Amino acid sequence: MIITIDGPTATGKSTIAKKLASSIGYIFYDTGAMYRMVALEMMRKKVPLEDEELLKTFLRDFECTIKVIRGERKYLIGEEDVTNLIRTEDVSKEASRVSKSPLVREKLVALQRKLAQGVNAVFEGRDMGTVVFPDAALKIFLTASDDIRAKRRLLELQERFPDQTFDFETVKKEMLARDEQDRTRAISPLVKAADAFEIDTSDLSLDEVNFRILECKDLAAQKRKAAK
Ligand code: C5P
Repeated sequence: MIITIDGPTATGKSTIAKKLASSIGYIFYDTGAMYRMVALEMMRKKVPLEDEELLKTFLRDFECTIKVIRGERKYLIGEEDVTNLIRTEDVSKEASRVSKSPLVREKLVALQRKLAQGVNAVFEGRDMGTVVFPDAALKIFLTASDDIRAKRRLLELQERFPDQTFDFETVKKEMLARDEQDRTRAISPLVKAADAFEIDTSDLSLDEVNFRILECKDLAAQKRKAAK
């Protein structure tokens, strides 16, 4: 069974997907990290998004994996651990840019569908419920106010990169620019699936959001039963 969680940046998708997955014994996949890994490697290898042939060759050879090592999630390109490297503001910006490419999306959507075969999993991202898993058993769309999201993003950056300083207004501006780019792109834009449950996480604790999702899971199961 597949559960999808979509929504804009810093609505708590990853934290909640992780918590939900562990509470019901599912695997959890953060698909934003996959776009981030592609973006990081394209930056390092200077692959221009506009050069289709180069991009195709790059994507054909690109391999990334997600491993859980001693309870910690590690993101690898080849053998290299890029867990922290993919969380910088530069990579965030670049991930939003490269994710507009149909070739990049084709590669990652295929990978995501492959990972979903025969398992119970929670997939979080932007297009999980609309494009990648339109038949998912449960679809959740998370939202939160802009200020709360920017605060969460700032906190994440400060925790991950304690040696650097970050400015709230800049973080907020960049976050909103990325959201706009994700919402308005031609393919797989960030949009709520018609059959998704929307939850505003602004004033909810992690446990409260998890509880609401479990309620939605029961509701979705009842709906499926009634439709049979
Ligand atoms: O979720 P996260 O902020 O890590 O995602 C980084 C970027 O990857 C997003 O801004 C979005 O452009 C892209 N993305 C996407 N589709 C997904 C997940 C992420 O286009 N399923």
